[in-house]
Amino acid sequence: LEEKATLKDKIRKLLKEKQAVLVAHYYVDADLQDLAEETGGCVSDSLEMARFGRDHPAKTLVVAGVKFMGETAKILSPEKTILMPDLDATCSLDLGCPADEFAAFCDAHPDRTVVVYANTSAAVKARADWMVTSSIGLDIVEHLHKQGKKILWAPDKHLGSYIQKKTGADMLLWQGSCLVHDEFKGVELELLKKEHPNAKILVHPESPEAVVAQADVVGSTSQLIAAAQSLDAKEFIVATDNGILHKMKAAAPGKVFYDAPTAGNSATCKSCAHCPWMAMNGLRNLAEVLETGRNEIHVDPETGRKAYVCIDRMLDFAA
Ligand code: 13P
Ligand code: SF4
Repeated sequence: LEEKATLKDKIRKLLKEKQAVLVAHYYVDADLQDLAEETGGCVSDSLEMARFGRDHPAKTLVVAGVKFMGETAKILSPEKTILMPDLDATCSLDLGCPADEFAAFCDAHPDRTVVVYANTSAAVKARADWMVTSSIGLDIVEHLHKQGKKILWAPDKHLGSYIQKKTGADMLLWQGSCLVHDEFKGVELELLKKEHPNAKILVHPESPEAVVAQADVVGSTSQLIAAAQSLDAKEFIVATDNGILHKMKAAAPGKVFYDAPTAGNSATCKSCAHCPWMAMNGLRNLAEVLETGRNEIHVDPETGRKAYVCIDRMLDFAA
């Protein structure tokens, strides 16, 4: 505990000294989320992280999250120094969509508008017409569908088919998935709902169809937190990374939250739904990168310039 307090003090001092700002995702360690908020940084979903990083005047951003979030920050602000606590913190969606295979997929379907999820590499984004996050993917695809566009979507198959069903758009889907959300199970969720019939079900759209189908609210991490706060219910079942519970509980004090069941685990499992890459962000490595300037994110400038177009389009649409 004492070590924790010392590390936090050190981080506060270093952020000031280096004129750096901390941008954190809701799935990282609670201490990091609190530090980000307390020191004038932000804790949010991936769309807000991108916008905050782009608009903040600090010369150095420390991104506590996973690689694609650091890369997006760099692409939007190539002149800024972007540091991450651990450069190996990646994402199964990013890993499951290698740039060369993705390019071949695009080449085979030149008539389609290419829409990629934020959880991809800079090189994949460089091939895309649009980037979307979970908070705005539905609106953007709807907009494209109304223009009569046929879509090539990558990489998350669950988010893709959810959007496809909602919009009726013609979408060709890459078959990637998130290793955390893919574990949520529909039948077990039904059973848990029977135990808590008044609970509302909050679901991140990277979850399988059988889980999404039972949702009262489907949305990005920020949207799910907002729903927990605004919905007139006392109990919630939450199907997303349990890192979200820290802010969800703070936003909705007095309400009760249950983890949605995952494969092979009972409904009371406390640590199964947690992203192993988000978990690589800690106080110790955060202090270390601030002190040493190590773990800087670099994006090839030409790739970055190409990827910028699809990210900027999304931010413009969202504005
Ligand atoms: P959000 O944009 O909803 O925060 O999602 C990011 C993510 O990686 C979810 O697994
Ligand atoms: Fe990727 Fe899933 Fe981790 Fe989000 S929770 S960063 S989608 S592996």
